Amino acid sequence: MRQSNHLLAGVYQELKKIIRPGISTWEIDHEGERLIRQCGGVPNFLHYEGYPASVCVSVNDEVVHGIPKKEHILKDGDIVSLDMGLIYEGYHSDAARTFGVGKISEEAQKLIDVTRQSFFEGIKYAKAGHHLHEISGAIGDYAESFGYGVVRDLVGHGIGTKMHEDPQIPNFRCKSRGILLRPGMTLAIEPMINIGTPDVEWMDDDWTVVTADGSLSAHYENTILITEGEPEILTMVDGKPE
Ligand code: MF3
Ligand code: CO
Repeated sequence: MRQSNHLLAGVYQELKKIIRPGISTWEIDHEGERLIRQCGGVPNFLHYEGYPASVCVSVNDEVVHGIPKKEHILKDGDIVSLDMGLIYEGYHSDAARTFGVGKISEEAQKLIDVTRQSFFEGIKYAKAGHHLHEISGAIGDYAESFGYGVVRDLVGHGIGTKMHEDPQIPNFRCKSRGILLRPGMTLAIEPMINIGTPDVEWMDDDWTVVTADGSLSAHYENTILITEGEPEILTMVDGKPE
């Protein structure tokens, strides 16, 4: 899991360099797939339940699972969420990031920053002896303190020899405490945060999830390892998760 996720972090480091106004979402997917294969990985999103690409590319009010298209050209001021993963020697990695395209508004930058920070607020509780929903609650409380909508219809997940394993990991305060965390568990924690309503809708392609009110949405995900002490962020390169 360390190796697989480290490789994925390296792919992000390269892939983010090509994001600029004028590039198509298809080109991002194409380059992402090339980088994944170049480092010896296999894209785990490609053909997953029929998904047609290696990278989910979701722009502005698209929350997740946007399908890359040649005719979808990024423009100055857009925000773009990338979500991808790879399989290396049977082990899965999964991570997501939201990037600004060219010069973005202060409002958009704040959404990106708060979404990222909500992940770090959550993983303060990602230690053996804590319960899973302590992570969920900390993520949701932090994002909601800015008046943002925390997506409820999609959640994080366990990950290992399959991309999606138990448990599901909500990004909001729950009444139940969730499973007891134990050393060795690997979890994909992935807040999806909207400026407006938490409600989302599915587009006619049956994949692309958009905000119900058309407001901007950001996504941030890392795969982490539970230990006795601080969690290890596995989707990391040069000691940084990007
Ligand atoms: N990225 C999603 C997750 O983080 C899974 C995407 S499935 C795909 O769990 F089919 F859209 F690729
Ligand atoms: Co995931």
